[in-house]
Amino acid sequence: MEFDPFSDVFFNDPYPTYRALRDESPVYHNREQSFYALSRYEDVLMATLKPLLFSSAEGVEVQGRDKSELGVLPMIISMDPPKQIRQRKLVSMAFTPKTIAVLEDRIRECVGEFLDPLLERGEGDFVKEFTSCVPADVISLLLGVPKSERQRLRELVETELTLEPGTTTVGAKGKGAAMSRVQYFIELVMTRRASPEMDMISALIAAEIKNDDGEMDQLSDIEIVGFCMLLQAAGAETATKLMSNTLLLLQRNPESLRRVRADHSLLPGAIEEALRFWPPAQILGRQATEEITMHGVTIPKDARVMLLAGSASRDERQFDKPDDYDIDREINIQLAFGHGVHKCIGAALARLETRVALEEVLGRAESYEMDESRTERVKMINVAGYSSIPIRFS
Ligand code: HEM
Repeated sequence: MEFDPFSDVFFNDPYPTYRALRDESPVYHNREQSFYALSRYEDVLMATLKPLLFSSAEGVEVQGRDKSELGVLPMIISMDPPKQIRQRKLVSMAFTPKTIAVLEDRIRECVGEFLDPLLERGEGDFVKEFTSCVPADVISLLLGVPKSERQRLRELVETELTLEPGTTTVGAKGKGAAMSRVQYFIELVMTRRASPEMDMISALIAAEIKNDDGEMDQLSDIEIVGFCMLLQAAGAETATKLMSNTLLLLQRNPESLRRVRADHSLLPGAIEEALRFWPPAQILGRQATEEITMHGVTIPKDARVMLLAGSASRDERQFDKPDDYDIDREINIQLAFGHGVHKCIGAALARLETRVALEEVLGRAESYEMDESRTERVKMINVAGYSSIPIRFS
């Protein structure tokens, strides 16, 4: 059995492989690519709850932290406690539930901006013209990036995360795009330090907490730049996939679509189930800090260990009929957002923007048809989903 997170099988349909891994090789070892993989729900959950044993400090990508100058940017997602806890407390002061909840009207405006031309034409590309644009714009809006720069930054993130054919790490093009974003955010942070506005960068600059010695602690400029870089990448590519996945799963399940159309209060259930059924972030990368023995296999100290969230959420040991898309399913722990100390900080925003986007699509178009014969998928690190879905509205 082979599990290759860079293969077409992984990007197109990893689910039969996941099932075989769970049944036959719950601690899988890929010798060629030097990683282990945990595929069962309870193992993935356990690992997310032991961040010091399954460490993020060497990066959350399959092959670990980028060794170039970009890899030294402090990012909360690739830190372990207590460093991660300190930074999470600080950024959470700017990323409050209230900051997110008040965004609903502005998100709706942003959705309309991209949806109007698509509906007027009656057809187009749902991903390229809508779902890839909305989340990127919303994050930029939140951070305080001026409108004129938002599309450029979105394209840079896409270039940064897309694997060039036949490669397994970000190439020169991707690194160039990342450097342009770093430069952009350094300038924006300096501008806001000199003259604050009502945006998240200004709030991150102002955030302060008391440390254990009773002294006031604040984020440095480079920490704020790292957080902005992470938010744009983590928030845009994943929420894009969630919006497209939910609409496509509803098309495949006409009775659920009929019910959601008739009662939009069922949308959150449809979105939660799309997160479980096709999690946009399929893999959470970790590194073993000690030797670990599980299911009769010994993972050596310092080995890379992949937590397969995409497999865990289809584990028949945890979910009844896991391969059915069921909008009434009760999901206790949504592993699609990770769990434990690194649990996604943007989950409320992702849920809100997806609900608003789909409320608008379903409320304004009487019907839609996504052409599944002409879809295309991304080839990105850790993330899976569609890069193109032709759609027709009436
Ligand atoms: C459907 C959309 C999203 C999905 C599926 C998703 C998924 C995830 C997952 C799985 C993690 C944990 C990674 C790990 O444990 O290694 C994570 C962390 C994170 N996410 Fe999200 N995310 C989404 C949207 C967002 C948005 C909209 C933002 C921000 C605007 C965001 C910001 C973050 C940040 C900052 C972290 C790191 C938290 C930490 O390490 O303490 N995400 N996300």
